[in-house]
Amino acid sequence: MRLPKFSLKRCFIFIVVFCALLIFVINLREKELWNNKIPGTTAHQQGHRNYLQDNNVEKPESFDIYDSQPISSQTTSRPNPEEVEENESEGKEKIESDYDDDVLSTRPWYFTNGERYPKPARINKKTKKRLAKMIPSEDPRSDRITNQLMFVPNNYDEIRSEGKLKTILLYNGLGPWNVKQGRSLFLNAKCPVDTCQITPNRDRAKDADLVLYKDHYIPSGISKHSRQLYMLYFLECPYHTQHIKFPDVFNWTSTYRRDSDIVAPYEKWEYFDPRVRQIEQDRNYALNKTKKVVTVAWFVSNCSARNNRLQFAHDLGKYIQVDIYGACGNFKCSRTTADKCFDILDRDYKFYLAFENSNCRDYITEKFFVNGLSRNTLPIVMGARPEDYELSSPQRSYIHVDEFGSAKELADYLHLLDRNDELYNSYFKWKGTGEFINTYFWCRVCSMLHDEDSISQPKWYEDVNDWWRGQGVCTNGSWRKFQARKDVMLDE
Ligand SMILES: *[C@@H]1O[C@H](CO)[C@@H](O)[C@H](O)[C@H]1NC(C)=O
Ligand SMILES: *[C@@H]1O[C@H](CO)[C@@H](O)[C@H](O)[C@H]1NC(C)=O
Ligand SMILES: *[C@@H]1O[C@H](CO)[C@@H](O)[C@H](O)[C@H]1NC(C)=O
Ligand SMILES: *[C@@H]1O[C@H](CO)[C@@H](O)[C@H](O)[C@H]1NC(C)=O
Ligand SMILES: *[C@@H]1O[C@H](CO)[C@@H](O)[C@H](O)[C@H]1NC(C)=O
Repeated sequence: MRLPKFSLKRCFIFIVVFCALLIFVINLREKELWNNKIPGTTAHQQGHRNYLQDNNVEKPESFDIYDSQPISSQTTSRPNPEEVEENESEGKEKIESDYDDDVLSTRPWYFTNGERYPKPARINKKTKKRLAKMIPSEDPRSDRITNQLMFVPNNYDEIRSEGKLKTILLYNGLGPWNVKQGRSLFLNAKCPVDTCQITPNRDRAKDADLVLYKDHYIPSGISKHSRQLYMLYFLECPYHTQHIKFPDVFNWTSTYRRDSDIVAPYEKWEYFDPRVRQIEQDRNYALNKTKKVVTVAWFVSNCSARNNRLQFAHDLGKYIQVDIYGACGNFKCSRTTADKCFDILDRDYKFYLAFENSNCRDYITEKFFVNGLSRNTLPIVMGARPEDYELSSPQRSYIHVDEFGSAKELADYLHLLDRNDELYNSYFKWKGTGEFINTYFWCRVCSMLHDEDSISQPKWYEDVNDWWRGQGVCTNGSWRKFQARKDVMLDE
């Protein structure tokens, strides 16, 4: 018979072709993983303040970001895995089973022009719990913001059809939050989970799902029921927030601290593709900024600060020209013309001292993100710990004062950068690789209230003051760890 023979041959050819294809695909994937430079990533970026307001309520200031960045027309089509922090095995499983290429090619909804909305949460078949990490105990190193933004309960259709809303009581009233009563906030923001409503009515203390306090705690006199959550919100750092009188009532906190339940940072950097963190820039950031001596600019309103930042600036000034703008220095630039000031800074200065007023864990404000990173000068930072900046910033985008043993050592390094444009420019390669995203605070609050896994395990702070301002949280000195950039300096 001819037929079986013919079929065998076919089979063989098929196997050979299949193997070749497999090897080819594996090769491609390998390349993709190792090659972390891609041309044509979009440099179009927009800043978002992560303030708490509704979209249509006034924001503190308008910040022009990246006005002088070259904008390339192409957008990256690189995949954007949802949970970078996941363990490798878990991550792989996720990519294989949850996404097809089509889904991976669009950015998540919280990016500018992002279109990918979350699917119902995936569950671990054995434990019946969601896979994504959303609460601090599950992943203390991450801020879990993107996981929260991409969370939808897996039975959300049911929940929605029931028509019940989770009630959030703003105990200090609507004023401090600058939001509207009702559900509109969640609908306007197009939150993936929007079945929540806001109320300032204190009578709802008996049945609200969440009672939210901003800065102050006022006892309601009503004992809370077991499924009710109390959350404390702080915007400022411990030095500028009040001691809480009843420190054991809060289940959740929301602050800029990474170990808060709902982290509310001043800004949140997110890569378009976590594997692409540096790209070649087609401009020289040092151009026209060479006035022989390096100058450092600084806008401050309060001269005395706990961390002695002014003293440090003066010390630095002994070794390098430091121009201090504002009330504490000789250079004038009024707040009302701040934009012009920053244009000058961008044009003339190579470095910007983004010194916070306090050295506290994770305390990184718009001084760094907006006045520093979103401009084209290199920020020199003081405030949070070096490791905090590392987790919150684009890769290689700033210099921390505690990387150096003294003001003189720092000045030496700045002189080196001043002489070496290539080295200086190496601090700008992150530009165009991501975006400061809107972290949609209210959307995340609503999502979290629908997360049975979070709500069903009782949690509260035994002493919220200790957590917030206990030992090691703030320091009036430096966090210094001498991981200086000496390696780089030897290279010259
Ligand atoms: C993830 O990895 C860490 C250490 O690498 C390990 O301790 C942890 O158990 C892992 N978690 C899961 C869910 O596999
Ligand atoms: C640098 O200065 C030159 C000459 O004044 C000017 O043409 C150019 O646009 C400047 N470049 C930048 C980036 O400011
Ligand atoms: C300046 O900072 C100091 C110390 O942090 C503080 O005591 C003082 O009230 C501040 N002054 C103003 C005007 O904010
Ligand atoms: C909230 O905190 C209280 C203690 O103040 C506790 O009894 C309760 O179980 C907590 N609830 C949840 C859902 O964690
Ligand atoms: C800094 O802290 C130390 C000990 O904690 C204290 O003795 C010192 O007075 C503080 N310095 C300032 C300027 O507050």
